[in-house]
Amino acid sequence: EKGGFDHFMLKEIYEQPRAILDTYRGRLLAKEGIIRMAGIDQNMEKFLNANRIIIVACGTSWHAGLVAEYIFEDLARIPVEVEYASEFRYRNPVVTENDVLIAISQSGETADTLAAIKLAKEKGAFVFGVCNVVGSSIARETDAGAYTHAGPEIGVASTKAFTTQITVLTLLALKLAKAKGVFNSTRFHEYLTELEQIPAKVERALLTNPLVEIIAKVYKDSPNCLYLGRGYNFPVALEGALKLKEISYIHAEGYPAAEMKHGPIALIDEHMPVVVIATSKGHYEKIVSNIQEIKSRKGKIIAVVTEGDVQVRELADHVIEVPETLENLTPLLTTIPLQLLSYHIAVMRGCNVDQPRNLAKSVTVE
Ligand code: F6R
Repeated sequence: EKGGFDHFMLKEIYEQPRAILDTYRGRLLAKEGIIRMAGIDQNMEKFLNANRIIIVACGTSWHAGLVAEYIFEDLARIPVEVEYASEFRYRNPVVTENDVLIAISQSGETADTLAAIKLAKEKGAFVFGVCNVVGSSIARETDAGAYTHAGPEIGVASTKAFTTQITVLTLLALKLAKAKGVFNSTRFHEYLTELEQIPAKVERALLTNPLVEIIAKVYKDSPNCLYLGRGYNFPVALEGALKLKEISYIHAEGYPAAEMKHGPIALIDEHMPVVVIATSKGHYEKIVSNIQEIKSRKGKIIAVVTEGDVQVRELADHVIEVPETLENLTPLLTTIPLQLLSYHIAVMRGCNVDQPRNLAKSVTVE
């Protein structure tokens, strides 16, 4: 049942090329230059007339929401707010009929996310769901939606759900960008053809596995770990840290790299591993100077970079390369080695990777 893998988590990490492909299959028609998604096509006016999009989710799905915020604002020029479902539902939020709420949930059963949907519906918002489990409560409660086609996710730590959520939300953003006329067809086509390359590039990112395992051995006994990224890689840093803490029980924090000097830099000494996501597109020089700041305080640097990088390689203790892609699609690749890193560290520490202590696959109580 684990298909030759030791754990469901590793199997599911390796399923990502296929899961992403399954998620855009039949939707992304690059040759025709269209994206077909019934749940959006039938409700295009709702999206186009929206004052803003509010995204609600919990945990890893919330991180996918953060990536989506950057993509929606950058590509479709629609204002987006991303909220923890638990905070949104209890803080008397301003929601009107002109808002669109997108709820993201792998299980489709998360209690807080479900409650946030009900609240938004009461206030007249149009509610769109991005779920993995077909027929789940959230899928039924929303006005429309688009499923991720990740297949069953058994490991408690979410992996392929995250990358397929980002895939669906990217398709949605691209559709809206096209419909709004923000994109000309050349640019649209560039995105569609690059999206088609993503499964093969994820496959290549998975080839880092033996190297990541070696790095895991070096840091498996660290009590702490910091994850830094900017732009599209900021949510990836949060997600990398969450993966490490939930399955290896190592304390980890993700930060936007520039926030380091507002506090966390005080933590850095020769015992602190810092994972920095430093891909070539988007604030590269800025992140290089963040890396220099870490190095001058003797922090250990594990860098995720774009293939062929030279500058970071000179500074970092370890370098993990992922293929180049469009900036907006970067998280689909940079997240892969971070999933592998947490997996190997957890295994080396003897942790129950698929069923970490105190955690449940779906959180049906608040
Ligand atoms: C982390 C993880 C959780 C879930 C969260 C939301 O690996 O799995 O943080 O992402 O509980 O669950 P869903 O997406 O089912 O609503």
